[in-house]
Amino acid sequence: VYMVLAYRINLDSRSELERLAKITTDIPISFRITPGVASGHSEKVMTGGKGSKFGIPMNQVIDTYARAKDLGFDVKGIHAHTGSGGMTTDPFTDVVDVLCEMVNRIEEEVNIKLEFLDFGGGIGVPYRPHDPEADLNELAILITDTIQEETDIKTVALEPGRFIVCDSTVLLTKCVDIKEAGMKKFVGVDAGFNTLIRPAMYDSYHYVAVANKFNKAGVAKYEVVGPICESGDYIAHDRALPEMEEGDIVAVYCGGAYGFSMSSNYNSRPRCAEVLVNNGEAELIREREDFEDLWRHQIVPARLSK
Ligand SMILES: Cc1ncc(COP(=O)(O)O)c(C=O)c1O
Repeated sequence: VYMVLAYRINLDSRSELERLAKITTDIPISFRITPGVASGHSEKVMTGGKGSKFGIPMNQVIDTYARAKDLGFDVKGIHAHTGSGGMTTDPFTDVVDVLCEMVNRIEEEVNIKLEFLDFGGGIGVPYRPHDPEADLNELAILITDTIQEETDIKTVALEPGRFIVCDSTVLLTKCVDIKEAGMKKFVGVDAGFNTLIRPAMYDSYHYVAVANKFNKAGVAKYEVVGPICESGDYIAHDRALPEMEEGDIVAVYCGGAYGFSMSSNYNSRPRCAEVLVNNGEAELIREREDFEDLWRHQIVPARLSK
């Protein structure tokens, strides 16, 4: 059963198109293209550049829309996603230029009048205290002006993820170890890259403060590191913090995007609990995992459990 009115399928390749056609052509579709515009806080999350694994390469877009039409699909739109967490508006205006040009070419060359244009997600957020916020009003004006001037498109979609949820979440992690080694002072906390992988994976900055010492000034620079067995396991580097002691609670800000969802059980560590704070009241919304959860899906072959 296909809920034709409520759903459409956004296809990323010719092979997906052919595979879907074997199942049904009775569903609206759109295509993700590779616009040749990349953005992001790290190269690892830039998705729209030429040669990327994502989307239909520019030189195949017209043929792909034509093939979809021949197969009998109702092709409704065009989509691109340049990447995640870039802090400038240029990639959005650039990608909208590319999408508008393709909307017109698809109408002229394939005779398909598209209904919507989706320019993806990727709006960056301030992670550092003095980072500026993205000027969304300016962005909205630039984009809608271009779309109205260049095309007949009336429906514009965007897919912001990080922008909506990033600053909603603070990771609280306990100091379990204090160590001085050479010139460095280490604060060992009980959350590592199993809980928040962004620093280890992208060298991302997350602002940290000591939740039980908010009113105390920083007295020394610390490395805030996790319990994972790799030297790349860190939360914050070279941060001025008050005198640290075991039991202190380190608050790691902006953990709402790509935080819990990228967490893992690496080093056999159960995942953390999640608590919703609503009008000063704390509500548990996800239980802390326990050791049972680590082997819940494991199967011991009968021959080994005799
Ligand atoms: C296709 C697509 N759209 C939207 C997003 C959301 O990106 P962001 O959280 O940067 O807004 C992603 C993230 O990976 C994505 O792959």
